[in-house]
Amino acid sequence: MIRICGDLIELQTRSTTYLMRILAGGQLENVCYGRRIDSLEGCEFISENFDYKLTTLPYADEEHSRCFPERLLYEYPTAGRGDYRTAAIECVYSGNLTALELRYRSSRIFSGKCNAFPAHALADESTQTLEITLADDFARLAVRLYYTVYEEEDIILRSAAVVNESSAAVRLDSAASLCLDFSTDDFILHSYDGAWARERCEETRKLLAGITVIDSKLGCSGNEHSPLVYLEREGFDEVWGVNLIYSGSHRQLAEVSPFGKTRLISGINPSDFEYWLEPGETFHTPEAVLTYSSSIEDAAWNFHRFINKAIIRGRWKDRARPVLINSWEACYFDISAARLSALADKASELGCELFVLDDGWFSTRRNETAGLGDWTVSADVFPQGLASFAASIRQRGMMFGLWIEPEMVNKDSRLYEEHPDWLAAAPGRKPVVCRHQHILDLTRREVRDYLFDSISEVLAQCSADYVKWDFNRTFADCAAGYNYRYVLSLYELVSRFVSRFPDTLFECCASGGNRYDLGMLCFMSQVWTSDDTDLYHRLAIQEGTLAGFPLSTMANHVSASPAHQSLRTSRIDSRFDVASFGLLGYELDLCALSPADSEAVREQIAFYKEYRPVFQYGRFRKLRSRDSSTVWWSVSKDDVTIVMQYVVLNQVHTGRCDRLVLPFAGKDKTYRITKRAVHIDPASYGSMKNAYHRAEGEECCMTVSGSILSTCGVALPPQFMGNGFFPSTRVIADHGTRMYIVKEVR
Ligand code: GLA
Repeated sequence: MIRICGDLIELQTRSTTYLMRILAGGQLENVCYGRRIDSLEGCEFISENFDYKLTTLPYADEEHSRCFPERLLYEYPTAGRGDYRTAAIECVYSGNLTALELRYRSSRIFSGKCNAFPAHALADESTQTLEITLADDFARLAVRLYYTVYEEEDIILRSAAVVNESSAAVRLDSAASLCLDFSTDDFILHSYDGAWARERCEETRKLLAGITVIDSKLGCSGNEHSPLVYLEREGFDEVWGVNLIYSGSHRQLAEVSPFGKTRLISGINPSDFEYWLEPGETFHTPEAVLTYSSSIEDAAWNFHRFINKAIIRGRWKDRARPVLINSWEACYFDISAARLSALADKASELGCELFVLDDGWFSTRRNETAGLGDWTVSADVFPQGLASFAASIRQRGMMFGLWIEPEMVNKDSRLYEEHPDWLAAAPGRKPVVCRHQHILDLTRREVRDYLFDSISEVLAQCSADYVKWDFNRTFADCAAGYNYRYVLSLYELVSRFVSRFPDTLFECCASGGNRYDLGMLCFMSQVWTSDDTDLYHRLAIQEGTLAGFPLSTMANHVSASPAHQSLRTSRIDSRFDVASFGLLGYELDLCALSPADSEAVREQIAFYKEYRPVFQYGRFRKLRSRDSSTVWWSVSKDDVTIVMQYVVLNQVHTGRCDRLVLPFAGKDKTYRITKRAVHIDPASYGSMKNAYHRAEGEECCMTVSGSILSTCGVALPPQFMGNGFFPSTRVIADHGTRMYIVKEVR
């Protein structure tokens, strides 16, 4: 609901209120954003009262001498007129002027939303948008602020449009998607940081005086710092979350002012940004998604529901995603039609639904130094052609998918020989190299046309059911403003592919999760989370990812042991349990599995298919206890089925009893708890030869009231720690897991 009442502007969702006020001087003030307020009586007392004399602070003019910009809470702050905090917009006009002051001009409410930025959220006509126009009549620049309200999901979507109303070009140096000013400074900032193979691991820090920046200058949203951040108000059960619908360099900035206020700014990173706004032209920022709740877990659920509703589109929206086998860690570049066929035989026999042919299938691509850019099928690998190989995969009852990396070129390629000038690089300067490859200049129409035509031909030939769109290096040598233009060109190219192949399931990848963002998710329904499939590392990676992105977008694979990224050994059942929370795949040589592990995989896939809606679309919750264990739950949409995974991080010999407590179980319901069957390799008993057959059962079957489950919970059988083997003893060991199924009895 949106209401404009005199100088007050109110946005309301199911549980939140966002309140703004137009001040006497025309500034647009943020009064508050938080828990829902049902009566606005006395709201004039919320804002700070400036009835004092602050001789050192500037004020706008003599008529408003007690309105100090430095102490105001702004919706879209500017620089150079007395507010010394970071501005939401910076520009140079009339030659060299930079001071800007935006005053209220008009507002309107309309159905639907503004979709001017190419990667944007969806909304139907029942959704309302507020447009507020602010303007600086001296600089002749206007800013339109957009607020779209998703009531059910407690989401407010924000963006801005900058309009040059003057007769000369204006240089835009920054234009944030949102600014949120808070009246307090007691915040903890949560961000999701890392690098290759440890993407989106949560970091927290208390905000102190000054500026904290979480950003990416990689040219993509990046694995170093996700655009997802939360501000948590210490001791108040209040959390504000922001994410950006953008795939390029971004900046999330938090600033604590000397006057006890906090400012949060989210948008394109100004560090390599510049845009010349011509007279009459409008610049649209990407959209930022904002939510408020009492915990990160609840706020994340708002994001999950919003993303599944308004970001994911096309045929695969809300659909069951297939269990896949990927050839990369199974074969790397050592592929041949015969080897891949053997892998496909085994995969279909075990229950896989999609065969993904990863890197190495094209041109001279026998290793990572050559071939990128030449999108023709390699006759060495597929003497009968790719179409006939794809047909053979379908005969086995699986879909067929293909890996591509359109944005790149190796110098050792025909494409580079023919078009050395197609690189995104500084003319005349030796370009920075990464993985022997270079980024193509997608801002050129002819480059995009070449990629679209050559790759479409292959995808059409084999009727690809799935495409893994990879991007394996970051930007360098780019001119100011280039990255923004590149991102728009990328969206144009991707949207052409998506329209040409509407039934194909697109998965976004960038050396794992280097471009896991809402911008790419507007075009591709899922993302390869990380190249690191070590189950222990995956706990932090998947938990961090789920802080902002739903299970339905997060691809996880069971890979070999020892893990190729860590050399850690683990049981295949444990690897499955961790990978099953999200979109399941296998990425190992299935033909090399022992008979026992093959059987385990067959059972895993059947189990996953039975509970697929819970794993892919359930509500994720987690509990970590004392660093010795962690528990994940996913609750089905109808609340009837809960799958729960228990992971032993580090066995601690305390004799403590593990308990299964479900704080969210229905008090008046009854639940039945069972365990997913696991087979324990006798070898893991070492020299305790006779123990194996006695421990195999691990019986677990309980019927318990929701009232008990949600309060004291039930005791789980003891784990083996030298304490003897009984029919219910759990043999888990370090990095072992157990999966429980809790089902409402009706
Ligand atoms: C990247 C991806 C991997 C794989 C390789 C192939 O690293 O993240 O999954 O596709 O490229 O070169």
